[in-house]
Amino acid sequence: MEIIKVSKLSTASFAGLLEKIELMRSTLRWASQLDKQDIQKLLVQCSQLSNDVMLISRKERIKENIEKSAKQPDLTAAQRKQGLLDRGLIFEGVFGESRKLLETMEIAEKAAPTDLPILIDGESGTGKELMAKVIHNNSSRSEQPFISVNCGAIPENLIESELFGHKKGAFTGASSDRAGKFESANGGTIFLDEIGELPLQGQVKLLRVLQSQEIQRVGSEQVIIIDARIVAATNKNLFEMANAGTFREDLFYRLSVIHVTLPPLRERKDEIPLLLEFYCDEAAERLNRSPVKISKRLLNFFNTYHYPGNIRELRNIIYRMSCLADTTADLEHLPTLAHNTNSNISEEEAASEPINLELTLTEYRRKITDKAEKEYLQEALTKNNGNATELARKTGMNRSYLQLVLKKHNLHSLDFRKKK
Ligand SMILES: Nc1ncnc2c1ncn2[C@@H]1O[C@H](COP(=O)(O)OP(=O)(O)O)[C@@H](O)[C@H]1O
Ligand SMILES: [Mg+2]
Repeated sequence: MEIIKVSKLSTASFAGLLEKIELMRSTLRWASQLDKQDIQKLLVQCSQLSNDVMLISRKERIKENIEKSAKQPDLTAAQRKQGLLDRGLIFEGVFGESRKLLETMEIAEKAAPTDLPILIDGESGTGKELMAKVIHNNSSRSEQPFISVNCGAIPENLIESELFGHKKGAFTGASSDRAGKFESANGGTIFLDEIGELPLQGQVKLLRVLQSQEIQRVGSEQVIIIDARIVAATNKNLFEMANAGTFREDLFYRLSVIHVTLPPLRERKDEIPLLLEFYCDEAAERLNRSPVKISKRLLNFFNTYHYPGNIRELRNIIYRMSCLADTTADLEHLPTLAHNTNSNISEEEAASEPINLELTLTEYRRKITDKAEKEYLQEALTKNNGNATELARKTGMNRSYLQLVLKKHNLHSLDFRKKK
Protein backbone atom coordinates (compact mmCIF):
# COMPACT_ATOMS: atom_id res chain seq x y z
CA MET A 1 0.00 0.00 0.00
CA GLU A 2 1.49 3.32 -1.06
CA ILE A 3 1.06 6.05 1.49
CA ILE A 4 0.74 9.40 -0.17
CA LYS A 5 3.57 11.66 0.93
CA VAL A 6 1.80 14.49 2.66
CA SER A 7 4.86 16.10 4.14
CA LYS A 8 5.87 17.61 0.82
CA LEU A 9 2.82 19.83 0.68
CA SER A 10 3.10 23.42 1.75
CA THR A 11 2.54 23.89 5.45
CA ALA A 12 2.11 27.60 5.12
CA SER A 13 -1.64 27.87 4.70
CA PHE A 14 -4.96 26.56 5.86
CA ALA A 15 -5.53 25.30 2.34
CA GLY A 16 -2.30 23.26 2.55
CA LEU A 17 -3.42 21.86 5.87
CA LEU A 18 -6.82 20.84 4.57
CA GLU A 19 -5.18 19.19 1.61
CA LYS A 20 -2.98 17.17 3.95
CA ILE A 21 -5.97 16.08 6.01
CA GLU A 22 -7.83 15.12 2.85
CA LEU A 23 -4.90 13.01 1.63
CA MET A 24 -4.62 11.26 4.97
CA ARG A 25 -8.33 10.61 4.91
CA SER A 26 -8.08 8.99 1.51
CA THR A 27 -5.24 6.79 2.78
CA LEU A 28 -7.34 5.79 5.77
CA ARG A 29 -10.09 4.48 3.49
CA TRP A 30 -7.72 1.59 2.89
CA ALA A 31 -7.07 1.16 6.59
CA SER A 32 -7.76 -2.57 6.51
CA GLN A 33 -4.94 -3.08 4.03
CA LEU A 34 -2.29 -1.01 5.81
CA ASP A 35 0.66 -2.87 7.28
CA LYS A 36 2.46 -1.97 10.48
CA GLN A 37 5.02 0.21 8.76
CA ASP A 38 2.33 2.13 6.90
CA ILE A 39 0.48 2.73 10.12
CA GLN A 40 3.63 4.02 11.74
CA LYS A 41 4.18 6.41 8.86
CA LEU A 42 0.62 7.61 9.20
CA LEU A 43 1.15 8.24 12.89
CA VAL A 44 4.23 10.31 12.15
CA GLN A 45 2.21 12.28 9.62
CA CYS A 46 -0.49 12.78 12.24
CA SER A 47 2.00 14.23 14.66
CA GLN A 48 3.43 16.47 11.93
CA LEU A 49 -0.09 17.57 11.20
CA SER A 50 -0.66 18.44 14.83
CA ASN A 51 2.50 20.57 14.81
CA ASP A 52 1.30 22.30 11.69
CA VAL A 53 -2.02 23.07 13.31
CA MET A 54 -0.17 24.67 16.23
CA LEU A 55 2.03 26.63 13.84
CA ILE A 56 -0.85 27.80 11.76
CA SER A 57 -2.96 28.88 14.69
CA ARG A 58 0.02 30.93 15.84
CA LYS A 59 1.01 32.52 12.55
CA GLU A 60 -1.81 32.21 10.08
CA ARG A 61 -4.63 33.09 12.37
CA ILE A 62 -3.25 36.47 13.17
CA LYS A 63 -2.22 37.05 9.57
CA GLU A 64 -5.69 36.17 8.32
CA ASN A 65 -7.26 38.41 10.91
CA ILE A 66 -5.15 41.28 9.72
CA GLU A 67 -5.92 40.51 6.10
CA LYS A 68 -9.59 40.24 6.88
CA SER A 69 -9.71 43.62 8.56
CA ALA A 70 -7.70 45.11 5.71
CA LYS A 71 -10.33 43.75 3.33
CA GLN A 72 -13.09 45.65 5.11
CA PRO A 73 -12.32 49.19 4.05
CA ASP A 74 -15.97 50.08 4.45
CA LEU A 75 -15.82 49.55 8.22
CA THR A 76 -14.33 52.57 9.97
CA ALA A 77 -12.37 52.17 13.18
CA ALA A 78 -15.28 53.73 15.07
CA GLN A 79 -17.68 51.19 13.55
CA ARG A 80 -15.40 48.30 14.44
CA LYS A 81 -15.11 49.56 17.98
CA GLN A 82 -18.88 50.03 18.16
CA GLY A 83 -19.22 46.44 16.91
CA LEU A 84 -17.12 45.21 19.81
CA LEU A 85 -19.17 47.28 22.26
CA ASP A 86 -22.45 46.09 20.75
CA ARG A 87 -21.35 42.49 21.10
CA GLY A 88 -20.80 43.23 24.78
CA LEU A 89 -17.01 43.13 25.03
CA ILE A 90 -15.85 44.42 28.41
CA PHE A 91 -13.01 46.87 27.72
CA GLU A 92 -11.57 47.16 31.24
CA GLY A 93 -10.49 50.73 30.55
CA VAL A 94 -8.68 49.98 27.29
CA PHE A 95 -8.68 53.07 25.12
CA GLY A 96 -7.96 53.60 21.50
CA GLU A 97 -9.19 52.97 18.02
CA SER A 98 -6.01 52.33 16.08
CA ARG A 99 -6.19 49.51 13.57
CA LYS A 100 -3.57 47.49 15.43
CA LEU A 101 -5.28 47.84 18.78
CA LEU A 102 -8.68 46.96 17.33
CA GLU A 103 -7.16 43.87 15.77
CA THR A 104 -5.88 42.71 19.12
CA MET A 105 -9.24 43.46 20.75
CA GLU A 106 -11.02 41.46 18.06
CA ILE A 107 -8.68 38.54 18.64
CA ALA A 108 -9.24 38.88 22.40
CA GLU A 109 -12.98 38.85 21.81
CA LYS A 110 -12.79 35.59 19.89
CA ALA A 111 -10.24 33.93 22.14
CA ALA A 112 -11.69 34.95 25.53
CA PRO A 113 -14.56 32.43 25.65
CA THR A 114 -12.25 29.52 24.79
CA ASP A 115 -9.76 27.89 27.15
CA LEU A 116 -6.89 28.22 24.67
CA PRO A 117 -3.60 29.52 26.02
CA ILE A 118 -2.75 33.05 24.93
CA LEU A 119 0.63 34.68 24.59
CA ILE A 120 0.69 38.47 24.64
CA ASP A 121 3.86 40.22 23.66
CA GLY A 122 4.78 43.85 23.33
CA GLU A 123 7.08 46.44 24.82
CA SER A 124 6.83 47.35 28.47
CA GLY A 125 3.83 49.55 29.25
CA THR A 126 1.81 48.65 26.14
CA GLY A 127 -1.02 47.15 28.18
CA LYS A 128 -0.23 43.43 28.30
CA GLU A 129 -1.58 42.93 31.80
CA LEU A 130 -4.63 45.02 30.97
CA MET A 131 -5.24 42.80 27.93
CA ALA A 132 -4.92 39.68 30.11
CA LYS A 133 -7.66 41.10 32.33
CA VAL A 134 -9.83 41.84 29.30
CA ILE A 135 -9.49 38.18 28.32
CA HIS A 136 -10.28 36.94 31.82
CA ASN A 137 -13.24 39.25 32.31
CA ASN A 138 -14.75 38.31 28.98
CA SER A 139 -14.47 34.60 29.67
CA SER A 140 -16.77 32.25 31.55
CA ARG A 141 -14.12 32.29 34.30
CA SER A 142 -14.65 35.95 35.14
CA GLU A 143 -16.17 35.18 38.55
CA GLN A 144 -13.19 32.99 39.42
CA PRO A 145 -9.73 34.22 40.47
CA PHE A 146 -7.30 36.04 38.18
CA ILE A 147 -3.86 35.24 39.58
CA SER A 148 -0.88 37.20 38.37
CA VAL A 149 2.64 35.79 38.67
CA ASN A 150 5.73 37.76 37.76
CA CYS A 151 8.06 35.02 36.57
CA GLY A 152 10.98 37.44 36.50
CA ALA A 153 10.67 38.30 40.17
CA ILE A 154 10.84 34.84 41.75
CA PRO A 155 14.26 33.59 42.89
CA GLU A 156 15.19 30.54 40.87
CA ASN A 157 15.19 28.13 43.82
CA LEU A 158 11.66 29.16 44.83
CA ILE A 159 9.96 28.96 41.45
CA GLU A 160 8.58 25.48 41.89
CA SER A 161 7.18 26.14 45.33
CA GLU A 162 5.77 29.52 44.25
CA LEU A 163 3.96 28.03 41.26
CA PHE A 164 2.93 24.66 42.67
CA GLY A 165 3.07 25.11 46.44
CA HIS A 166 4.89 23.01 49.04
CA LYS A 167 4.34 20.65 51.91
CA LYS A 168 5.39 21.57 55.43
CA GLY A 169 9.05 20.65 55.93
CA ALA A 170 9.76 20.16 52.19
CA PHE A 171 12.75 22.49 52.50
CA THR A 172 14.26 24.83 55.08
CA GLY A 173 11.80 27.62 55.60
CA ALA A 174 8.74 25.61 54.56
CA SER A 175 7.13 25.97 57.95
CA SER A 176 3.62 25.08 56.84
CA ASP A 177 1.70 23.61 53.91
CA ARG A 178 1.22 26.21 51.23
CA ALA A 179 -0.78 26.33 48.00
CA GLY A 180 0.97 27.64 44.92
CA LYS A 181 -0.27 30.10 42.31
CA PHE A 182 -1.67 27.36 40.08
CA GLU A 183 -3.86 26.05 42.87
CA SER A 184 -5.02 29.55 43.72
CA ALA A 185 -5.94 30.09 40.06
CA ASN A 186 -7.94 26.87 39.86
CA GLY A 187 -11.14 27.48 37.93
CA GLY A 188 -9.88 30.90 36.86
CA THR A 189 -6.98 32.38 34.92
CA ILE A 190 -3.28 32.38 35.71
CA PHE A 191 -1.34 35.28 34.22
CA LEU A 192 2.32 34.36 33.76
CA ASP A 193 3.96 37.74 33.34
CA GLU A 194 7.51 38.09 31.98
CA ILE A 195 7.49 34.46 30.97
CA GLY A 196 10.71 35.03 29.01
CA GLU A 197 12.51 35.43 32.35
CA LEU A 198 11.60 31.94 33.54
CA PRO A 199 14.80 29.87 33.79
CA LEU A 200 15.03 26.71 31.68
CA GLN A 201 14.44 24.42 34.64
CA GLY A 202 11.23 26.24 35.52
CA GLN A 203 10.20 26.03 31.86
CA VAL A 204 10.49 22.24 31.94
CA LYS A 205 8.29 22.03 35.04
CA LEU A 206 5.74 24.41 33.58
CA LEU A 207 5.60 22.44 30.35
CA ARG A 208 4.93 19.25 32.26
CA VAL A 209 2.01 20.86 34.08
CA LEU A 210 0.56 22.23 30.88
CA GLN A 211 0.72 18.80 29.30
CA SER A 212 -0.74 16.85 32.22
CA GLN A 213 -2.91 19.52 33.85
CA GLU A 214 -1.72 18.11 37.14
CA ILE A 215 0.53 19.51 39.82
CA GLN A 216 2.26 18.20 42.91
CA ARG A 217 3.21 20.46 45.79
CA VAL A 218 6.96 20.34 46.48
CA GLY A 219 7.56 17.47 48.91
CA SER A 220 4.12 15.94 48.41
CA GLU A 221 3.09 12.77 46.59
CA GLN A 222 -0.47 13.87 46.12
CA VAL A 223 -1.48 14.76 42.58
CA ILE A 224 -3.82 17.71 42.21
CA ILE A 225 -5.77 18.25 39.01
CA ILE A 226 -5.68 21.87 37.90
CA ASP A 227 -8.05 23.70 35.62
CA ALA A 228 -6.50 27.11 35.02
CA ARG A 229 -6.53 29.11 31.83
CA ILE A 230 -3.05 30.27 30.90
CA VAL A 231 -2.31 33.77 29.69
CA ALA A 232 1.39 34.54 29.38
CA ALA A 233 3.08 37.85 28.60
CA THR A 234 6.54 38.93 27.62
CA ASN A 235 8.45 41.89 26.25
CA LYS A 236 10.96 39.50 24.72
CA ASN A 237 10.83 37.79 21.35
CA LEU A 238 10.19 34.21 22.49
CA PHE A 239 10.43 32.87 18.97
CA GLU A 240 13.97 34.22 18.67
CA MET A 241 14.75 32.97 22.17
CA ALA A 242 13.52 29.52 21.16
CA ASN A 243 15.79 29.62 18.12
CA ALA A 244 18.68 30.68 20.32
CA GLY A 245 17.95 27.87 22.77
CA THR A 246 17.13 30.10 25.76
CA PHE A 247 13.43 29.32 25.67
CA ARG A 248 11.99 25.87 25.14
CA GLU A 249 10.44 25.64 21.72
CA ASP A 250 7.79 23.15 22.83
CA LEU A 251 6.73 25.45 25.66
CA PHE A 252 6.60 28.37 23.25
CA TYR A 253 4.20 26.49 20.97
CA ARG A 254 2.06 25.40 23.92
CA LEU A 255 1.74 28.95 25.21
CA SER A 256 1.23 30.69 21.90
CA VAL A 257 -1.75 28.85 20.45
CA ILE A 258 -3.18 32.36 20.23
CA HIS A 259 -0.50 34.99 19.92
CA VAL A 260 -1.21 38.71 20.13
CA THR A 261 1.27 41.51 19.86
CA LEU A 262 0.44 44.87 21.37
CA PRO A 263 1.80 47.73 19.27
CA PRO A 264 4.02 50.34 20.88
CA LEU A 265 2.41 53.73 21.46
CA ARG A 266 4.58 55.34 18.79
CA GLU A 267 2.74 53.20 16.23
CA ARG A 268 -0.69 54.20 17.44
CA LYS A 269 -0.23 57.90 17.85
CA ASP A 270 -3.77 58.66 16.79
CA GLU A 271 -4.78 57.41 20.21
CA ILE A 272 -2.76 60.05 22.00
CA PRO A 273 -5.46 62.77 22.15
CA LEU A 274 -7.88 60.29 23.69
CA LEU A 275 -5.32 59.06 26.23
CA LEU A 276 -4.30 62.63 27.08
CA GLU A 277 -7.86 63.60 27.80
CA PHE A 278 -8.56 60.50 29.82
CA TYR A 279 -5.45 60.68 31.98
CA CYS A 280 -5.69 64.48 32.46
CA ASP A 281 -9.22 63.98 33.80
CA GLU A 282 -8.18 60.99 35.91
CA ALA A 283 -5.17 62.83 37.36
CA ALA A 284 -7.32 65.90 38.07
CA GLU A 285 -9.78 63.79 40.01
CA ARG A 286 -7.06 62.01 41.98
CA LEU A 287 -5.19 65.23 42.74
CA ASN A 288 -8.40 67.10 43.44
CA ARG A 289 -7.79 69.87 40.91
CA SER A 290 -9.24 70.98 37.58
CA PRO A 291 -7.81 69.18 34.52
CA VAL A 292 -4.55 70.73 33.44
CA LYS A 293 -4.46 72.49 30.04
CA ILE A 294 -1.74 71.60 27.57
CA SER A 295 0.29 74.23 25.72
CA LYS A 296 0.69 74.00 21.96
CA ARG A 297 4.41 73.23 22.28
CA LEU A 298 3.71 70.46 24.76
CA LEU A 299 1.01 69.02 22.51
CA ASN A 300 3.56 68.93 19.72
CA PHE A 301 5.90 67.08 22.06
CA PHE A 302 3.22 64.49 22.85
CA ASN A 303 2.58 63.94 19.15
CA THR A 304 6.20 63.45 18.22
CA TYR A 305 7.72 61.78 21.28
CA HIS A 306 8.76 58.14 20.83
CA TYR A 307 7.55 56.84 24.23
CA PRO A 308 10.05 54.15 25.20
CA GLY A 309 7.82 53.40 28.23
CA ASN A 310 4.62 53.47 26.16
CA ILE A 311 1.24 54.13 27.80
CA ARG A 312 2.65 53.74 31.30
CA GLU A 313 5.13 56.51 30.55
CA LEU A 314 2.48 58.77 29.04
CA ARG A 315 0.32 58.27 32.11
CA ASN A 316 3.20 59.05 34.47
CA ILE A 317 4.11 62.21 32.53
CA ILE A 318 0.52 63.44 32.76
CA TYR A 319 0.34 62.77 36.50
CA ARG A 320 3.64 64.60 36.96
CA MET A 321 2.53 67.69 35.05
CA SER A 322 -0.90 67.68 36.66
CA CYS A 323 0.93 67.90 39.96
CA LEU A 324 3.51 70.54 38.95
CA ALA A 325 1.66 72.88 36.57
CA ASP A 326 -0.78 75.62 37.54
CA THR A 327 -3.44 75.95 34.86
CA THR A 328 -1.40 75.17 31.75
CA ALA A 329 1.36 72.58 31.47
CA ASP A 330 4.33 73.28 29.21
CA LEU A 331 7.65 71.67 28.24
CA GLU A 332 9.23 72.67 31.55
CA HIS A 333 6.90 70.25 33.34
CA LEU A 334 8.28 67.25 31.49
CA PRO A 335 10.71 64.88 33.20
CA THR A 336 14.23 65.75 32.02
CA LEU A 337 14.79 62.43 30.30
CA ALA A 338 11.72 62.71 28.07
CA HIS A 339 12.48 66.34 27.32
CA ASN A 340 16.07 65.73 26.27
CA THR A 341 15.37 62.83 23.99
CA ASN A 342 12.88 64.77 21.96
CA SER A 343 14.67 67.94 20.92
CA ASN A 344 13.41 68.98 17.53
CA ILE A 345 16.36 69.34 15.24
CA SER A 346 15.85 70.80 11.81
CA GLU A 347 16.68 68.92 8.66
CA GLU A 348 19.42 71.43 7.77
CA GLU A 349 21.10 70.70 11.06
CA ALA A 350 20.70 67.01 10.48
CA ALA A 351 22.43 67.26 7.12
CA SER A 352 25.24 69.41 8.39
CA GLU A 353 28.68 67.87 8.57
CA PRO A 354 30.84 67.35 10.52
CA ILE A 355 29.14 65.90 13.57
CA ASN A 356 28.06 68.58 15.99
CA LEU A 357 29.56 67.42 19.26
CA GLU A 358 27.46 69.87 21.22
CA LEU A 359 24.58 67.49 20.78
CA THR A 360 24.23 64.61 23.15
CA LEU A 361 24.48 61.16 21.61
CA THR A 362 20.72 60.73 21.98
CA GLU A 363 20.03 64.04 20.23
CA TYR A 364 22.41 63.16 17.43
CA ARG A 365 20.89 59.72 17.02
CA ARG A 366 17.42 61.22 16.82
CA LYS A 367 18.55 63.72 14.21
CA ILE A 368 19.89 60.96 12.03
CA THR A 369 16.82 58.79 12.56
CA ASP A 370 14.54 61.65 11.50
CA LYS A 371 16.62 62.20 8.40
CA ALA A 372 16.49 58.50 7.53
CA GLU A 373 12.73 58.44 8.16
CA LYS A 374 12.18 61.33 5.76
CA GLU A 375 14.41 59.85 3.06
CA TYR A 376 12.66 56.50 3.34
CA LEU A 377 9.21 58.09 2.95
CA GLN A 378 10.33 60.21 0.00
CA GLU A 379 11.82 57.23 -1.76
CA ALA A 380 8.82 54.97 -1.07
CA LEU A 381 6.30 57.59 -2.21
CA THR A 382 8.29 58.28 -5.38
CA LYS A 383 8.34 54.57 -6.17
CA ASN A 384 4.62 54.02 -5.55
CA ASN A 385 3.36 57.16 -7.24
CA GLY A 386 2.42 58.96 -4.04
CA ASN A 387 0.04 56.30 -2.77
CA ALA A 388 0.06 56.83 1.02
CA THR A 389 -2.62 54.22 1.68
CA GLU A 390 -0.57 51.55 -0.01
CA LEU A 391 2.57 52.67 1.80
CA ALA A 392 0.75 52.40 5.14
CA ARG A 393 -0.42 48.91 4.28
CA LYS A 394 2.96 47.75 3.02
CA THR A 395 4.87 49.04 6.01
CA GLY A 396 2.22 47.97 8.53
CA MET A 397 1.83 51.57 9.69
CA ASN A 398 -1.40 53.01 10.91
CA ARG A 399 -2.72 55.42 8.25
CA SER A 400 -3.30 58.31 10.62
CA TYR A 401 0.16 57.80 12.08
CA LEU A 402 1.69 57.84 8.60
CA GLN A 403 -0.16 61.10 7.89
CA LEU A 404 1.28 62.50 11.09
CA VAL A 405 4.81 61.50 10.15
CA LEU A 406 4.40 62.93 6.65
CA LYS A 407 3.17 66.17 8.19
CA LYS A 408 6.13 66.21 10.55
CA HIS A 409 8.48 66.14 7.55
CA ASN A 410 6.30 68.53 5.56
CA LEU A 411 5.77 65.89 2.87
CA HIS A 412 2.62 65.79 0.72
CA SER A 413 1.84 62.50 -0.97
CA LEU A 414 0.21 64.37 -3.91
CA ASP A 415 3.58 65.93 -4.75
CA PHE A 416 4.86 62.42 -5.54
CA ARG A 417 2.20 61.62 -8.17
CA LYS A 418 3.68 61.37 -11.60
CA LYS A 419 2.33 64.07 -13.90
CA LYS A 420 0.34 62.59 -16.78
N1 LIG B 1 -5.14 50.86 25.60
C1 LIG B 1 -5.03 51.38 26.82
N2 LIG B 1 -5.89 52.33 27.23
C2 LIG B 1 -5.76 52.89 28.45
N3 LIG B 1 -4.82 52.60 29.34
C3 LIG B 1 -3.92 51.67 28.99
C4 LIG B 1 -3.98 51.00 27.72
N4 LIG B 1 -2.98 50.13 27.66
C5 LIG B 1 -2.31 50.24 28.82
N5 LIG B 1 -2.89 51.16 29.63
C6 LIG B 1 -2.40 51.56 30.95
O1 LIG B 1 -0.98 51.64 30.87
C7 LIG B 1 -0.38 51.13 32.05
C8 LIG B 1 0.52 49.97 31.71
O2 LIG B 1 -0.24 48.86 31.31
P1 LIG B 1 0.18 47.35 31.64
O3 LIG B 1 -0.95 46.46 31.25
O4 LIG B 1 0.68 47.23 33.03
O5 LIG B 1 1.41 47.21 30.60
P2 LIG B 1 2.48 46.04 30.43
O6 LIG B 1 1.98 44.86 31.21
O7 LIG B 1 2.51 45.79 28.94
O8 LIG B 1 3.77 46.57 30.92
C9 LIG B 1 -1.54 50.76 32.97
O9 LIG B 1 -1.78 51.86 33.81
C10 LIG B 1 -2.69 50.54 32.03
O10 LIG B 1 -3.92 50.76 32.66
MG1 LIG C 1 3.48 44.33 32.89
